[in-house]
Amino acid sequence: MLKRKSFYTIIVLGIVLFISAVYYLSPKPSNSTNEFNINKEINADNMYDTVAYLSKQPRAAGTEGEIKAVEYIESKFKSLGYETKVQEFPVYDFKEKHRSVIINDKPLEGDIRAFSGNVSGNVTAELMNVDKARPSDIPVEVKGKIALVELGEIPIFAKLNNLLEKGAAGVIMYNDHPAGSFEGKASERQYIPAVAITRDQGLELAALLQEGSVVVTLDVEVEKIRHTSYNVIATLKPNKNQDTGQIVTIGAHHDSVPYGPGANDDASGVSAVLELARIFSKKPTDTEIRFITFGAEEKGLIGSTHYVSTLPQNDEERMVAHFQMDMVGAAAAGGNNPAGGLIMYTIDGRKNLVTDLGAAASKNTFSEAIPYGELGRSDHQPFHDANIPAALFIHAPLEPDYHQPTDTLDKISKEKLQQVAEIVGSAVYQITSPETPATTNEKAVPAVVEYHYEDRSL
Ligand code: BES
Ligand code: ZN
Repeated sequence: MLKRKSFYTIIVLGIVLFISAVYYLSPKPSNSTNEFNINKEINADNMYDTVAYLSKQPRAAGTEGEIKAVEYIESKFKSLGYETKVQEFPVYDFKEKHRSVIINDKPLEGDIRAFSGNVSGNVTAELMNVDKARPSDIPVEVKGKIALVELGEIPIFAKLNNLLEKGAAGVIMYNDHPAGSFEGKASERQYIPAVAITRDQGLELAALLQEGSVVVTLDVEVEKIRHTSYNVIATLKPNKNQDTGQIVTIGAHHDSVPYGPGANDDASGVSAVLELARIFSKKPTDTEIRFITFGAEEKGLIGSTHYVSTLPQNDEERMVAHFQMDMVGAAAAGGNNPAGGLIMYTIDGRKNLVTDLGAAASKNTFSEAIPYGELGRSDHQPFHDANIPAALFIHAPLEPDYHQPTDTLDKISKEKLQQVAEIVGSAVYQITSPETPATTNEKAVPAVVEYHYEDRSL
């Protein structure tokens, strides 16, 4: 009898022990205190210091300034104990060697500039006015002729495409404003001799064409110079026994425009990447996290495009979210919009895992879910093109210093830096922490909140 009783006691105790073990070992639902812990660790002073260092000089892709930035970023990653990789890729600059325009045997004088791009060539042909070079402006007779084009209405890229399609042999483009000649630019694959002239010169040529046929010799020589630009990548490996197999990427671009120090565009984003790398270096994770700063964003998303196009297929398939931070610190950006004007842009204007996580994190942290909208123009584009959920975090409308020499440290707000790092940090924590449920597919977002689409002007 006694024996039987202790047998039952052991069974009952065993069951109780088993149930509590299952409970304690099972993953717990979203727990916002963890996210707040992340937020307490974020230090805007660190971020400000990074912006201060990087914005001492411009960091155009392929220049000394970029190399200094790359060395700084890599050394920071290394000092945090990360395994790093610096990925090289070529970028090109175009330099005018020679250009001349001869009109009916008389050289054209004044402000003439060769386009940048693959525009070298020497061609003699009749001139034809094609207005703004919209498809309906261009008669088939343009074939073999040199087109006189007015700037405006549609992008230069489209004008050149329309003209190349109809077989034009050269391009003389004049400004739609009275200022000097503008900076013409052909894309890599648009092979056509092309120069830019002033509005006055262009109107004179148009008048001359009214009187009869005009023969032009267009002689352009542009040198293509190869430079090297870089992506910097730091990888945080997941805990071996808790690996979900997924990869989350956090990115910003370290290059700037050639004529500005790019404190906000995008030293601010780099500062957030480094600060999040610092915090996550001490956290356990069930997801691989890659912290990446891209080069040559300003030259056409070249670094991020190179990064995505060289990913092993297995990596690409395991990537579930890309968080891009670009221009996230300007005090003057954001207008009177809630949450300092922070907004998440996707390429297709649709919500995705990244915007769901971002909205939930901002709701938790600032009791306000930030909106989303549709915009490219940064390194989230190639990720989206590879079917990886991606969004750009940015304050809109933009500050007046965008792409100006005045994009300097004194325009940076620590509060804005802190806010973005908290929101993106919490969102990343939500998906990468072993304490939170792994997001195995796009629909399984742990904390869904309401947030709205906004067509905000920039
Ligand atoms: N930081 C900007 C992107 C941006 C600008 C986003 C304005 C939202 C509003 C970025 O560095 C940039 O200037 N991008 C280029 C495009 C790129 C493909 C060369 C741009 O927008 O002109
Ligand atoms: Zn930028």
